[in-house]
Order: sequence, then structure tokens, then C-alpha cells
Amino acid sequence: MESNHVNAHEPELVPHKGIKLIEGTHDPDDVDQICNLEIRDSDVFVITYPKSGTIWMQQILLLLESKGDVTAVSKLSKYSNADLIPWIELKGNRQAFITAPSPRLRVTHLQHHVMPSALSQRGKVIYVARNPKDVLVSYYHFHKVANMLETPRDFSDFFDKFLRGDVFGCSWFDHVKTWHSHKEDMNMLFITYEEMIQDLQSVVRRISLFLGKEMTDEQLANVVKHSTFNIMKKIPHANYEQVPGDLLNHHQGRFMRKGTIGDWKNHFTVAQNERFDETFNKEMKDVPLSFIWDILDIE
Ligand code: PPS
Repeated sequence: MESNHVNAHEPELVPHKGIKLIEGTHDPDDVDQICNLEIRDSDVFVITYPKSGTIWMQQILLLLESKGDVTAVSKLSKYSNADLIPWIELKGNRQAFITAPSPRLRVTHLQHHVMPSALSQRGKVIYVARNPKDVLVSYYHFHKVANMLETPRDFSDFFDKFLRGDVFGCSWFDHVKTWHSHKEDMNMLFITYEEMIQDLQSVVRRISLFLGKEMTDEQLANVVKHSTFNIMKKIPHANYEQVPGDLLNHHQGRFMRKGTIGDWKNHFTVAQNERFDETFNKEMKDVPLSFIWDILDIE
């Protein structure tokens, strides 16, 4: 059954220069300065629309940095993956980025036009896209957990908001289309969540080559092993368990929720699915990207 509970004070999304920021979480002045950041050759940005596999990429990059040594990563367990590979757009993080030692690994949900223009000359970008039906469902559940986001009235209401782009991250279609259209303007590896589900080993190998890491087969195998859903779902810092309950309502659900392809089938009505397909076909008709919509299509 849907919860009708609504927080006493619902945080608001603040429209700002073609994007939406979260009241209290982002500082518009700070975000405005991101485009001017100087970029080093060793900088790496993971770019995702929300709920597309950010924490998964954070885990993989941390393990690649430690050459697959999970004990080195777990020693850092008092930190979350997001402390170790922070969001550039969070309040205060831009300033910390300027003086941080290399390699500066960062994640972001931001749109292309507010990101550092110097990325066209330096640094590396990994864009992870996920099929938007599963993104919608994952985002719906996350809105119930995350107190910095408005609690959805019900699934149908959230479905409409997502299609309108009335969420943090704005329109999934615009986010993916724009970043994909700039693929050749920067040093970008474009991957999908579904490829990672299908063959994590070969995606990890591609990421490692892209980042110029020298890894043995055994080290790569360790990276893969410790970034599977079944392992990650048991790691407290991958579930943001140390984040206080006033920010994440841990009773509403776990961050590592289902980790699969096709959960949308348990949520969408036939009519919603038709409406979604219509929008998807219209928005994506000229985009050379295809998605896997069902786990059964790869098994
Ligand atoms: S956020 O809040 O935007 O940072 O969320 P994000 O980390 O991008 O996405 C969370 C979803 O990714 C799933 N996930 C994984 N799936 C498969 N394997 C691994 N290892 C993995 N790690 C994270 C996570 O479960 C969320 O998806 P759902 O569908 O809700 O389970």
C-alpha cells in the first residue's frame, strides 16, 4: 500500500539556470562556479542521472584505486562511498575539489552546461545510463527514504513528475541525450547499467583500460567480486547506514534495493507503460542508444 505520509516540511526543488537544485543541499552560487573549475589530466568525473548506478561506479573506482584490495577500501568504512568519491555539486565540495590531491575522483548528477568547460581539454568522464523505467521505480523508492526529497503522494503522482522532469536531475531524456551528444567533445566512456549487469567483468576491464590502470587478472577479478550487488548490499557504507535518520529514513528501505533490470514491471500499469513508451519513442527517436528492459533478455 502507498504511504500517504507527507513530511511536515517538504524540501523544495529550486529552478536554477535550466537545472533544479535541492533546497538546503545545494548552493546555487557554488554550482555557478563549477563551470570555471580548472581540470587536471588525472581528474575523473562519473556522471549519472540519479539512480543509474552512481554508488556502483564509486565502488568500482575505489577498488581500482586499491588494485582490488578490499581490505584497503573497508578500512575506510567509517566513510560512505560518497565521502570518498564526493558529489561535486554538494555545498562546500567545489572548494574542497580545488585543493584536493590527485587523482580527484568525483561524481555528479549535473547537466552538461553547468559542468567545467575545461573537461573538453583535460580529465576523463564516465557516463552511466540506465533504462529509465527502472530509474523511475528506483527514484520513487528513494524519494520515500531520502528526507531531502519530497515524499511522493503515490506512484502515479511520481510517474507524472518523472515524465515532466519535475525532479532533481530534471528530464531523464534531456540528461542522457545531452551528455551522449557530447561524447566526442571530451574523453568519455559511455556505459550502461544493463551492460554492467550483463557482464560486469568486461565493463570493469573497459573502465580499467580507460583509466590507464595496470591491473593483473587477479586484481581485476577482486574488483568484480567486491562490486557485485550481493556483496555490496551487505556493506554498511554502500547503504549509507552511517547517514543519520533525519537525512535518510532507513526504515523506509535500503539504498541497495533490488539491483536488477525490469523491476518496473512490478510497478507500471499497462496504461502507464504505453504512455512511457510513447514518450520514450518520441524523445529518443534520433538517439543511437538502446536499452535492455528485462533481465530475461540477457539470461
Ligand atoms: S543515487 O541516489 O542517485 O546516488 O543512486 P545510484 O547509486 O545512482 O543508484 C542506486 C541504484 O543502483 C543499484 N545498484 C546496483 N545494482 C546492481 N549491482 C550493484 N552492484 C549495484 N549497486 C547499486 C541500487 O540497488 C539502486 O537501484 P534499485 O533499482 O533501487 O535497486
